[in-house]
This record gives sequence, structure tokens and C-alpha cells, in this order.
Amino acid sequence: MPHSPTVTLRRLQIADIPLVLSMESDPEVMRHSTGVKPADEARRQELLAWLDEPVTDIGHWAVEADGIAVGWVSLTPLGTTGRLQLAYRLCQPAWGRGIATRAGAQLCDYVWQRLDVPKLVAVVWPGNEASMRVLEKLGFAFVGRECHYGRETNVYVLCRPGLASG
Ligand SMILES: CC(C)(COP(=O)(O)OP(=O)(O)OC[C@H]1O[C@@H](n2cnc3c(N)ncnc32)[C@H](O)[C@@H]1OP(=O)(O)O)[C@@H](O)C(=O)NCCC(=O)NCCS
Repeated sequence: MPHSPTVTLRRLQIADIPLVLSMESDPEVMRHSTGVKPADEARRQELLAWLDEPVTDIGHWAVEADGIAVGWVSLTPLGTTGRLQLAYRLCQPAWGRGIATRAGAQLCDYVWQRLDVPKLVAVVWPGNEASMRVLEKLGFAFVGRECHYGRETNVYVLCRPGLASG
């Protein structure tokens, strides 16, 4: 049985840039995402500028497993739909130990406790079985297909606990 690490979240910070660069330049990590980005100086400068923006009540959190950053989870607007989406990305060595599910659960708890939104959405490239499984374990329900990020995606929804679905 693989070791089940302690999973904690904290805000993403400048020290996480090497991890972000290594994930987004890894074709396996980006197989079902918006495309590989080279880990070059231009991209590092973009990330520096991005992390310099004021922190709001949504955004990106680093996922730590036993105190080591292994990826991120995020809350971001889904395009111009007015809906708030959950997303996550972990480095390959962290896969398969339940880390994304536990990190996602913590971020969902944060949303229900701190934000005034009735539901969360997530969009997944068809074929991303691991991600769809994470969403199912978190209680998300598949609601259909929609075009986002210029392609057809599977859309999942999780309603605030106690609210009727719909
Ligand atoms: C998707 C991702 C975050 C999952 O992280 P993780 O920590 O391995 O996820 P968990 O261990 O919490 O759960 C994964 C589940 O998917 C299952 N799974 C993994 N690969 C699978 C596959 N190819 N087919 C079916 N199920 C699969 C696992 O068995 C597990 O389910 P189980 O607990 O019922 O056994 C990670 O693979 C990743 O970062 N991928 C690249 C980025 C990405 O695709 N992000 C999501 C974009 S929508």
C-alpha cells in the first residue's frame, strides 16, 4: 500500500515557479490541458508578474504532500460564464496517492465556508479518466458537454451541500 501523505494547501508563491515550469513543460502532465509551455526565461517572467498580482479570495493554491509542494489547485472564473471552476495539476511523481482528491476536497470546503457561490464547475478533456475520477470522488456530477478553451469538454457540477441540484 503506497504511503498516504498529509495534504495541505497554501497560496502559490514565487518559490513555486520551478515546480510550475516543470509541470507545464511536461507533455504527460499537459496531455489533457491547454498545451505544453517551454520552461524558458520568458515564461518565468510571466509567472513572476502573475504571482505579483494582488491575492483575492480565489486563485491558485500550492498543494503540499508531507510539506513538499507537488502541484496546485485553483478556483478561477470559467470564461465569461459567471461560474467558478475548480482545477488541479500535480507533478507526475505525486500521482496515484489520492493527493488531488484530498486537495480538491479542502478547496471545496473553503468555497462553501468562505465564498457565496451556489455551485462549482469543472471542465475536463474527454479521455482524462484520472481527473474525471477525482471529480466523481469529490461528488461532482457530469452534466454534459460544452465548448471551452476552444474544444469540446466534459462539464461537471458540484452543488453547495444542502442546496438542491439544478
Ligand atoms: C488528474 C490528477 C490531478 C489526478 O491526481 P491524483 O493525485 O493521482 O488523483 P487521486 O489519486 O486523488 O485520484 C485518481 C483516481 O483516478 C484513477 N485513475 C488514474 N488513472 C486512471 C485511468 N487511466 N483510468 C481510470 N482511472 C484512473 C485512480 O485509480 C484514482 O481513483 P481511485 O481512488 O478510485 O482508485 C493528476 O493525474 C494530474 O495532475 N494530471 C495532469 C493534470 C490534469 O490532467 N489536471 C486535470 C485537468 S482537468
